Amino acid sequence: MAPRISVIGTGYLGATHAAGMAELGHEVVGVDTDASRIRALAEGRVPFYEPGLPELLRRHVESGRLRFTTDLAEAAAFADVHFVCVGTPQGPGGAADLTALHRVVDDLVPALRRTALVVGKSTVPVGTAEALVERIARLRPSVEVDLAWNPEFLREGHAVEDTLRPNRLVLGVPSPAAEWALRQVYARPLADGTPVVVTNLPTAELVKVSANAFLATKISFVNAMAELCEVTGGDVAALADALGHDDRIGRKFLGAGLGYGGGCLPKDVRALIARATELGTPESVDFLHGVEAVNARRRQRVVDEALGALRRTGPWLHGRVGVLGAAFKPHSDDVRDSPALDVARRLSREGAWVTVFDPQASVTARTVAPELRYAANAVAACRKADVVLHLTEWPEFADLDPARLLEAARGRVLVDARNTLDPAPWLAAGWDVRTLGTLVGVPLERPLAV
Ligand code: UDX
Repeated sequence: MAPRISVIGTGYLGATHAAGMAELGHEVVGVDTDASRIRALAEGRVPFYEPGLPELLRRHVESGRLRFTTDLAEAAAFADVHFVCVGTPQGPGGAADLTALHRVVDDLVPALRRTALVVGKSTVPVGTAEALVERIARLRPSVEVDLAWNPEFLREGHAVEDTLRPNRLVLGVPSPAAEWALRQVYARPLADGTPVVVTNLPTAELVKVSANAFLATKISFVNAMAELCEVTGGDVAALADALGHDDRIGRKFLGAGLGYGGGCLPKDVRALIARATELGTPESVDFLHGVEAVNARRRQRVVDEALGALRRTGPWLHGRVGVLGAAFKPHSDDVRDSPALDVARRLSREGAWVTVFDPQASVTARTVAPELRYAANAVAACRKADVVLHLTEWPEFADLDPARLLEAARGRVLVDARNTLDPAPWLAAGWDVRTLGTLVGVPLERPLAV
């Protein structure tokens, strides 16, 4: 018989996973302590922006295969497999805060009345799962309880696709029985040929953080090359293309520009440094300090470029900056550690008058950065702007009419900090286009000190 599933924690990861599990044919209950979130999900409403998720959620709420509750005991009585998807935010010193994870285990385990498999999906420091096995034993469950780790690799903006058709499954399992149960859960993607790696608990935990640390390293590597291109007259876009043709390297995640942000990459890099230090082997991840430093420099680079342009155009103290993009990446309304919003806020702190437009993230951005102004569209954001910054590469920004924007603006400097706009129409319309490490428009006039 197919296992019945609970998904505990219905944030970004949990809500998507719950709907995905229902789509894979399972009976699912989603659990959260936040009653208003549970009410919204039960009515088929997703409290964040994720393409395709509202439709999937509604379909399965209506089919009755997916329901939501705030009652953990109900989930304990219902399900055989419990996915734990609570947040592990950054705590003091960069280490992950495991309070929510511990609370779930402490509440769930005593409530279990049937043999259960608890499956961790949250991103945790290596060693957490083995400590949880001991914690579960100390709680003296009245039934058999196994713990597995099954990290999640979903990307915001592609979460539904990544959940239904993952590029790999990693099953950290303590026993053949746990492996068997997870193979039942993922029967459909496994039948479709999804690669699976079956391993132990610490490896499964490490896969997730090391994947994100590797992606961050790849981005910072190409951004470091962009810095060299800027002082030598090289072109990082051509360089990335040339590197990418080597399929040992690959072109993906070699997009040079403003660098990485979001709720995962920056946090996971810091947490890995913190954990390696706790484990007495900080030198193993020394290079990650370099990765973080390059990433931080890119943001400052754009701030300096904008301030330089403002200083040239007049009394920069009240110079106007039009910002295109606030989300940490396109197809998302997430502004957690957003490079775009960080640059906008720094400029505002420097005395500039900053107006932001983002197709989805203005509402979330306003809550964390109320000091900025928010426009209803790109043209309004650029009205009377001395400098325009392209900071999040929403596809619709590629379709903007540069002539209309130039008419609305006061200056004509465009900094494409994502290196994704086709410069030709902007140059043709009269914009002075600046990029990070590519050979577009006017050569960069202030080389980095090396
Ligand atoms: C990431 C991982 O990709 C995903 O597997 C994991 O489960 C969660 O963390 P996500 O945070 O949604 O996903 O975003 P991702 O698409 O990885 O982008 C992260 C950041 O890197 C963004 O700020 C993006 O703009 C930046 N980036 C990405 C670059 O600067 N250059 C690139 O070439 C690619």
